Amino acid sequence: MLNQFKRKIWSQKTCVLNAIKGHHLSTKAKESGFGFKESVHILDNNYAVDDWTNITPKVVSLIGRNLYLKKGNPLYLLSEAIRHYFKDYDFFVFADPVVDLKSNFDSLLIPKDHVSRQKSDTYYVNKDYVLRSHTSAHQNHCLHKKSTAFVCIADVYRRDEIDRRHHSVFHQCEAFRLYHNNSPQLISRGINHVFESHKLVRTDSKQENHCQEVVDIIESEMKTTIEAFVRNLLWEDIPMRWVSAYFPFTHPSWELEIYHNNDWIEILGSGIVEHKLLQNAGINDNIGWALGIGLERLAMIRYQIPDIRLFWTNDSGFLSQFESACHSDKIVYKPISSHPQLIFDISFWLPQQVFWCCNDFYDLVRNIGGDLIEQVKVIDEYTTKEGKKSHTYRIVYRSHERMLSKDEVNVVHKQIERYVTDEWKVAMR
Ligand code: PHE
Repeated sequence: MLNQFKRKIWSQKTCVLNAIKGHHLSTKAKESGFGFKESVHILDNNYAVDDWTNITPKVVSLIGRNLYLKKGNPLYLLSEAIRHYFKDYDFFVFADPVVDLKSNFDSLLIPKDHVSRQKSDTYYVNKDYVLRSHTSAHQNHCLHKKSTAFVCIADVYRRDEIDRRHHSVFHQCEAFRLYHNNSPQLISRGINHVFESHKLVRTDSKQENHCQEVVDIIESEMKTTIEAFVRNLLWEDIPMRWVSAYFPFTHPSWELEIYHNNDWIEILGSGIVEHKLLQNAGINDNIGWALGIGLERLAMIRYQIPDIRLFWTNDSGFLSQFESACHSDKIVYKPISSHPQLIFDISFWLPQQVFWCCNDFYDLVRNIGGDLIEQVKVIDEYTTKEGKKSHTYRIVYRSHERMLSKDEVNVVHKQIERYVTDEWKVAMR
């Protein structure tokens, strides 16, 4: 997510910089080889490899993780919050990130020589297909579904380094809304025509066909919606500012910056949809706005998550903090230890005729294990035909201060076993 804003790959400002960098990268990439010989299998399809192929097995291995649909991932909670905020909009998921050049570039009026088409910036599956580099790639698909207001969340791919703030796969949300002559927002202001009938001139503040006063209303509708949306997501009246920008598919265009940690940070791109784009999709009498926002950056601020790589972890110390939360919960992430987890399971038959409460067991484990216990939860329970009940608990041990040894944890684990056997009369399985 962050790279797109940092490097502004769609913006003309950095064209030259990217062109130079692009040359360097593609040469380097060719030398190292990409690891696919004749074809590459992605989700349900096989693609022939050619000179354009620059996807790597590593990136392909991340396809289909669908983090934004996985309960326990903060990106899922954020996606739920977005869906809730935009509940009157259609919601689309496009699970397959492979799209053709038309969707990713042509339908968005991105010129043939635009930097974003370079192999150095975009992952090509082959000469005809790319891994979508933004959710705008689906604008056209949603318009063909006859939607006039939609939100689409997806994983997107851009070639970049991996560090605390960058990842080659990140997530975006596209929001899009169309208005027509009879939209209440226009009618209530006494306006009944969207388009200029004569003197078609494009200026910095409008496209040739649009009436300035309509553009002003749509701009203010969009900015109010987005500001309230960001405030709602970040739970505070965070300082924001709009900065003029350039995108081939919107005009005028803006980026929104928020003030965080003594710095202005770009969080989204937006603008009035290019009329030509709508016309190409068979829509002639509407005007609309579009926005694309990166989810990771927002989630990092929203939940105070310090490293973008954490979204990809399977570490239950991380995931369990978000697992049972609701999208409106204000969760502050507690850093997990850098020392490894040690996972021990314990299975036993419950004593018969006794009311068993899992929470009692959790408390007992914490009581004995103290700070070494990171998590404990029941992972399996069943009852035999004879009515005997079995429970299995998973106990995750991890210290914040030091690396634990198996022997050391074993001593604690045995103590827990002994206690429940002697005092609570369970039978170990
Ligand atoms: N697709 C743009 C990007 O990824 C963001 C954007 C979306 C800008 C919609 C304008 C309108 O940078």
